[in-house]
Amino acid sequence: FVEVHYITIQQVGNVPITKGDFQSLPHQVQTWLAQMIQLCAPRAVYICDGSEEEAEMVTNKLVERGTLTKLTKYENSYICWTDPRDVARVESKTFIVTNNKYASIPHSREGVKCVLGQWMSPSDMKQELDDRLPGCMAGRMLYVIPFSMGPIGSPLSKIGVQITDSNYVLLSMRIMTRVSSEIWKHLRHNEEFVKCLHSTGVPRPHTQKIINNWPCNPEKILICHFPDIRKVISYGSGYGGNSLLGKKCFALRIAGRIAYDEGWLAEHMLIMSITNPKGEEKFIAAAFPSACGKTNLAMLTPTMPGYTVRCIGDDIAWMRFDKQTGELRAINPETGFFGVAPGTNMKTNPNAILTCLKNSIFTNVGETADGGFYWEGLENETPPGTEIISWTGERYKLGEDKTKKSSHPNARFCCPARQCPIIHDRWEDPAGVPISAIIFGGRRPEGVPLVIESFDWKHGIFLASQLKSETTAAAEHTGKQIMHDPFAMRPFVGYNFGHYIQHWLDFEKDPKNKLPKIFHVNWFRLDENKKFLWPGFGDNIRVLDWIVRRTNGEDIAEISSVGLIPKKDSINLQGLIVDWDKLMSVPKDYWKDDIEETLSWLDGQLGDDLPHDIRIQIEQQKQRISQI
Ligand code: GDP
Ligand code: PGA
Ligand code: MN
Repeated sequence: FVEVHYITIQQVGNVPITKGDFQSLPHQVQTWLAQMIQLCAPRAVYICDGSEEEAEMVTNKLVERGTLTKLTKYENSYICWTDPRDVARVESKTFIVTNNKYASIPHSREGVKCVLGQWMSPSDMKQELDDRLPGCMAGRMLYVIPFSMGPIGSPLSKIGVQITDSNYVLLSMRIMTRVSSEIWKHLRHNEEFVKCLHSTGVPRPHTQKIINNWPCNPEKILICHFPDIRKVISYGSGYGGNSLLGKKCFALRIAGRIAYDEGWLAEHMLIMSITNPKGEEKFIAAAFPSACGKTNLAMLTPTMPGYTVRCIGDDIAWMRFDKQTGELRAINPETGFFGVAPGTNMKTNPNAILTCLKNSIFTNVGETADGGFYWEGLENETPPGTEIISWTGERYKLGEDKTKKSSHPNARFCCPARQCPIIHDRWEDPAGVPISAIIFGGRRPEGVPLVIESFDWKHGIFLASQLKSETTAAAEHTGKQIMHDPFAMRPFVGYNFGHYIQHWLDFEKDPKNKLPKIFHVNWFRLDENKKFLWPGFGDNIRVLDWIVRRTNGEDIAEISSVGLIPKKDSINLQGLIVDWDKLMSVPKDYWKDDIEETLSWLDGQLGDDLPHDIRIQIEQQKQRISQI
């Protein structure tokens, strides 16, 4: 009786609150929620508290409906197959909205299409949203998810509230962020929070066929960011990068802008530590574009004896220079890994496999007939003849038809970071860890050596600005084109990219700042038979070891025209067969074209917003190359 009474008196407008106490929420949250409830017109509202009972209830509902299937081989783990039209981030539908266009994007040269962020005016965006949002949750439950990026209550953390009509999103947000009713206590006194609205864009009754019990509205996908008012609205997609708004939308695009305003950095970087055989530990951060190796590097299993790697984060780093010590301190604002499944196995990344054996959600991977997960890369760990059900529902026996694919190339595992066997015991330390080196990298099949160290801070920022990488399945780009992706942030920057580069350059102006050394790596150089020249994965420790030794000032580097490179035999190659000269060569013709192309691209994209220091770096690089 009490329950029934409770339900009937709590309502907003005429929408009932099925769980939670609306009146007790912080006032600023109530105001925003009331508006959103009226706009989206759900059938009911559910205010999440982060409890296990809540997860169980929602999970059971999704299993009943067929969106999730329990993987009986593991504890509390589920597989999900999406509508095949909704499998990756959609960069072409991702926008930054500000009154001033050039607060969002740089002054690109006339006739050049800016790819460093897309801007839309508030009035145009209003039209787009007016066409989508009214009644977008009709017949659905609206979940209210309070979450913290970073440890709850820490001064470095930021609070968000996500509204969503997708319970898959709710379950994933519980893994990736800290969801708890504790959050409300930290939001008193009219404090700011990041407003995140997500809808799959499929109100009831349905006018379109729902595929795989996965509601989405691909024609109308829109992911928009309002950095001035700390707001994200995402419509039409349930895929992680588009719908788990704490991740790329908030922790990079919105937080990046907050960081710019406040003097810190929100970066697309893993955070890890390396302890050498002498027991000395160093922390590094590394930025690679999506599906280029962050998750793998973050939890690498060293092939060199005596080394220990520990993981702090695999995707996002919030970093600031400590006012007292001058150290660059980094935290991982997330609590889970949303990793690329294909290619992950007990050889390449055992720690990832061991992390996702319970409490995990697998999206667009294959299933084995005995209730396990399967994807390309697990061939050697799965008995031939095992029956596989592919992500598109096709059944086949492993080994019988080599053309069959079990998984989408951007299939993902989503699992709690605390389950990682090598998670660092300080991974939730609100003070963060001190960063000694920053690494940038991408997929460069040609021309780019295994590792380059920058001459200095400015040159390091130039290395990051000229970052390029082969496109992957993480976004909608098709084919394998080499794209510019400065700082691995092209799709994730929330303000004028020229200001972003200048922001990085400006850290040098404070003499108190202990600037980390900057490096560039390339695990993906190919030989003439299109085979990788470098074994990668656990053997990347050999490069990390060199990098760490450089941060200790060891005399193991020599000057090349593109930066400092390892002296011969300074990288431990014991037990490997690699063609060192091919791996490390700096071909003059390649780099001569490359610097011309880079100048024309950066100048075209950034115009007069390209910092002067970068132009000087380009000139110096031209000089050095002409002298090869
Ligand atoms: P992230 O999206 O940046 O976190 O990238 P992941 O670590 O998930 O890796 C994406 C893909 O690249 C996976 O298929 C990996 O197997 C592959 N990969 C990661 N590291 C290496 C490496 O060192 N060498 C090679 N050849 N492939 C790698
Ligand atoms: P990642 O992230 O590939 O950078 O790990 C996820 C995404 O692209 O949505
Ligand atoms: Mn990753």
